[in-house]
Amino acid sequence: MLDLDKLNGSLQSFIKEKIKDFSCKVAIVSGSGQGFIGEKMEVLQSIPFTDIPGFKATGVSGHAGQVLLAKSAGVPVLFFKGRFHWYAGATATQFHAMMQLSQLLGCETVLLTNASGSLNATMHPGELVMIDDHINWQTNPLAGAVFGGKTMFVDMGQPYSKDIQNMLSDSASSSQIKLHTGTYMGVMGPNFETRAEVKLFRQMGADVVGMSTVADVLVARFYQLKVGCVSAVVNFGAGMAADQLSHDLTLDRAQQSSEALQQLLTLFIQKYHSLEAHYAS
Ligand code: HPA
Repeated sequence: MLDLDKLNGSLQSFIKEKIKDFSCKVAIVSGSGQGFIGEKMEVLQSIPFTDIPGFKATGVSGHAGQVLLAKSAGVPVLFFKGRFHWYAGATATQFHAMMQLSQLLGCETVLLTNASGSLNATMHPGELVMIDDHINWQTNPLAGAVFGGKTMFVDMGQPYSKDIQNMLSDSASSSQIKLHTGTYMGVMGPNFETRAEVKLFRQMGADVVGMSTVADVLVARFYQLKVGCVSAVVNFGAGMAADQLSHDLTLDRAQQSSEALQQLLTLFIQKYHSLEAHYAS
């Protein structure tokens, strides 16, 4: 069993000791080579993952492993610069710690970003895909999860919030950013797919494939956080193009969509903030 109550107690003590007067509504979790998302934010406090109960070092280059308490265009946000991956030895505890910390700091919504391989010939490297659904080809961080009466039998009929998707679509169209919509295939990694796997995943209805995100979504939904996800396509799947795939290629190609992704998230945060203020008034 995962002792999620104990984890929550440790995180509460950590917040009391180390974090002064910070709360926000949205947490952003960035993917491989996407630390740039935080570059234009005003950083109020930066905390290494290794200081936080339940967290550990990410163990992957391109994933710095820091939590930034920050402001994006004046709006407070929690920014996870780096995240956990099964392939790098993460356990369920780290996924839970991330979402518990977000919730304890006031977050209602988690926006995930990632880098992915395209399985769909119309979704090209350098373009962005808003994730509407996923297929879990990984393991499951909810197995044995017991916390405050929450059931681990989480409904996944609409894991990616329609409200958040609408806000993302509006933000994209208001700034002429091309944003596809698609299904994410979550694999364990760390290897890239074979040609036969790419063929199978295409037949299954997936549009992009990646090694992250699904565990974060499952745990976020366990805590009833709203979820949004934007994937930056960095390559075509094996057999769809001549690229030799590597993590360096992922990090390099993640730069291609950096400006669009940064702009999209900044607009999204502003939109979220103004809609929230509207409903609160
Ligand atoms: N497959 C899995 N994960 C990935 C890929 C891919 O092609 N590209 C970036 N992350």
